[in-house]
Amino acid sequence: MSDSYLNLWLLSLILALPIILLFRRKQPKLNLPPGQMGWPLVGQTIGYLRPHPATTIGEFMEQHIARYGKIFKSSLFGEPAIVSADAELNKFIFNNEGKLFECSYPKSIGGILGKWSMLVVVGDMHRDMRAIALNFMSNAMLRTTMLKDVERHALLVLNSWKQDFKFSAQEEAKKFTFNLMVKNILSLEPETPEAEALKKAYATFMKGVVSAPLNLPGTAYRKALQSRFTILKFIERKMEERNQNIKGGDKGLDDDLLSWVLKNSNLTSEQVLDLILSLLFAGHETSSVAISLALYFLPACPRAVQQLREEHREIARAKREAGDVELTWDDYRRMEFTHWVVNETLRLGNVVRFLHRKAIKDIRYKGYDIPRGWKVLPVLAAVHLDPSNFDHPQLFDPWRWQNNGSRGGSTGTSNNFMPFGGGGRYCAGSELAKLEIAIFIHHLILNCEWQLAEQDQAFVYPFVDFPKGLPITVQRLSLI
Ligand code: HEM
Ligand SMILES: *[C@@H]1O[C@H](CO)[C@@H](O)[C@H](O)[C@H]1NC(C)=O
Ligand SMILES: *[C@@H]1O[C@H](CO)[C@@H](O)[C@H](O)[C@H]1NC(C)=O
Ligand SMILES: *[C@@H]1O[C@H](CO)[C@@H](O)[C@H](O)[C@H]1NC(C)=O
Repeated sequence: MSDSYLNLWLLSLILALPIILLFRRKQPKLNLPPGQMGWPLVGQTIGYLRPHPATTIGEFMEQHIARYGKIFKSSLFGEPAIVSADAELNKFIFNNEGKLFECSYPKSIGGILGKWSMLVVVGDMHRDMRAIALNFMSNAMLRTTMLKDVERHALLVLNSWKQDFKFSAQEEAKKFTFNLMVKNILSLEPETPEAEALKKAYATFMKGVVSAPLNLPGTAYRKALQSRFTILKFIERKMEERNQNIKGGDKGLDDDLLSWVLKNSNLTSEQVLDLILSLLFAGHETSSVAISLALYFLPACPRAVQQLREEHREIARAKREAGDVELTWDDYRRMEFTHWVVNETLRLGNVVRFLHRKAIKDIRYKGYDIPRGWKVLPVLAAVHLDPSNFDHPQLFDPWRWQNNGSRGGSTGTSNNFMPFGGGGRYCAGSELAKLEIAIFIHHLILNCEWQLAEQDQAFVYPFVDFPKGLPITVQRLSLI
């Protein structure tokens, strides 16, 4: 039985061989970038994903760039891949989204975030969802509703901090960004039973996103798929409630994303669910890590803390004199040094390390061939930590952003700075993220002195995370 199968198999191989050879001969010789493909199936994924400090690019990238240059081939996530640490190629990839390249996240991510997740969908569906997200985070929204919410939620978290008490800064930052997102998306208020239940399900969900995609009983991935279901049920209930209210003519809950989408789009309920889940994910994990990174970098740079404090005291003083209480958009615009700190934090900390793309055409770039169907990974961190783009890239130096970056190397800092990606998938929440970080810093720096309570360090898993949660202690500053 097995013998005859083997014979059959051998026979077909012998028959097929000339055909395979013929096809191979016919193909023009490709000039692929240098590199190794590693073992079949696993390829080099394990080395590529090995944890390393967030302010470095890790041994794998270092060794490969040293040996092969900034563009090399490899085999990652089960597919042949081109890895790019080249700022020009990264920009080329972003600017040709949908034409030459397409977003292509591994199946495991799609399975968790959902097939209609914004990070996964392409083409018209992506265009429609992106329009919703951009509309929701429009300038007008940012300047009015969001600015107020950001300040309120920052104060809520900061005011709960106890003097001389060790706690996780990362947890606090997550609380801030989570509360803010669920308020804007679903009109949930912090610490209500609903918000707490959602937060709990979401935490389980996140553990699965960062775990190995093994759908077996008891694994984090399986639990995440279950909590995805819990969250979806929750959002579904909210949608029904909302539809009832809309029918009943209730105009009360008009300004959250859920109501807006229900009224202004033709998305199916499953699509709405995935959209909300992806916004919660994209808008909560990233900016909380960015805030944690700022709290981690700043104590090592007292001069920056000092200059921040001066800047924010000046803004606070002017407001007191004018009898103003809440921060305005003009106040935010005046936080000039803070913006350097924000950029420098994102450059050195690299919240999003690399993106997943694939070539949808045969592409020739700088003499190299990128075959259609191959994965292409633009590594944002490698550009930001490259000494040919930024002088002393390992140094936290907010002043390099003076004169919008002329001190950053021959080509100028902002040119090679892409923390939010680019092109047709440029982060829809970049302005909100910067606002969150700046406003949080404003109230933090005015009210508190903080120190790291234990040695901790940001690591890439590949999601940036502090193993100990960044423990800090604070002292309240007596008023200015
Ligand atoms: C420091 C914080 C943040 C960083 C570093 C960041 C970074 C990024 C990056 C690199 C992308 C591109 C993904 C790709 O091309 O595959 C992206 C997309 C996106 N981000 Fe952010 N992000 C941040 C905060 C936020 C916030 C606060 C929101 C608010 C909801 C948000 C919403 C989105 C959305 C909706 C997309 C998908 C855009 C699209 O596909 O058209 N992000 N982000
Ligand atoms: C929804 O669908 C209708 C009919 O197909 C169309 O006229 C309308 O423009 C669509 N609305 C949106 C927001 O796409
Ligand atoms: C910060 O980076 C952005 C690019 O994301 C750039 O447009 C901006 O000019 C930079 N800010 C400063 C103060 O250099
Ligand atoms: C700095 O900003 C100005 C205008 O704000 C712009 O014209 C110039 O190109 C920028 N320089 C760099 C190096 O980005």
